[in-house]
Amino acid sequence: KPAVRLALLGCGTVGSEVVRLLHEQAADLTARIGAPLELVGIAVRRPGRQRGTIDPALFTTDALGLVKRDDVDVVIEVVGGIEPSRTWLTEALRAGKSVVTANKALLAEDGATLHDAAAEGGADLYYEAAVAGAIPLLRPLRESLHGDRVTRVTGIVNGTTNFILSSMDATGAGFGEALDEATELGYAEADPTADVEGFDAAAKAAILASLAFHTRVTAADVFREGMTGVTAADMASAKEMGCTIKLLCIAQRGPDSTGNESVSVRVHPAMIPRSHPLAGVGDAFNAVFVEAEAAGQLMFYGRGAGGTPTASAVLGDIVAAARNRISGTRAPSESSYAHLPIRPIGES
Ligand code: HSE
Repeated sequence: KPAVRLALLGCGTVGSEVVRLLHEQAADLTARIGAPLELVGIAVRRPGRQRGTIDPALFTTDALGLVKRDDVDVVIEVVGGIEPSRTWLTEALRAGKSVVTANKALLAEDGATLHDAAAEGGADLYYEAAVAGAIPLLRPLRESLHGDRVTRVTGIVNGTTNFILSSMDATGAGFGEALDEATELGYAEADPTADVEGFDAAAKAAILASLAFHTRVTAADVFREGMTGVTAADMASAKEMGCTIKLLCIAQRGPDSTGNESVSVRVHPAMIPRSHPLAGVGDAFNAVFVEAEAAGQLMFYGRGAGGTPTASAVLGDIVAAARNRISGTRAPSESSYAHLPIRPIGES
């Protein structure tokens, strides 16, 4: 069978791991897919930068030109941010190319544009890596649970803040001290605002709620409160009550006060009993607890960040995209999702 040709946009922590895994596992991937994968180009901002053993001839600064190449079948985006990624990906989808992306900000702010472009081009959009890194979570929500009715999704979807809160719980440290430790160990970024103020978790919550409830939820719909106000005294009181404090994303569906089906999505620090499965999720791990009418309670747990774990999710999507192109099968589509009313927080 002819090769399935890939274009990679971005070659940072995740992108370089994607290239490494594509190379190292080439024989296995070819056997699993039934055709070889061929990386035909990598768009980067600084092509002169040394990037290990990657063939320098693959690099280009012309991302749009790479996306538009006729011989590209699958576009993989690991750049992040809204623009220019949105332009590249809508262009690819409208031209019928499969897209694999880890871009949670774009999906949470304007996923509808991507889904509509996919519908227009008869193309597939895959984004397992956008939420909770390596944890297989979106495919279960997009496919395995589609015969069921998900009622609530409760998650720890930010590793940095989970590391900080777990450390405060274990050592009695205050927020500042625990943040310094997270920074020293490389968990927290130089500017930790998106993590500690809950913006990162809110974007992921929007994507999870959209998939769980077959609706369109954007980051702006999510009630958000960060965790910078959690003190050592708060944690001590929680412990006295047999609880701990986690930064949770909570998305639920149900009738509002007038009986209409609606959705509420929020991110805030919350006390949870030690007996809850999410209470034991320590370090920088992520976990998502899903409740569905027929399935009951499900828990997904693993590494939510880092180059290699996130690349694992990207690779899984590349395999799915390549297989579906070969067999002419379509991935699940969210383009027809309705917009359920968003229930204000405070209404039960
Ligand atoms: N800053 C994020 C986290 C990275 O700490 O979980 C993964 O999205």
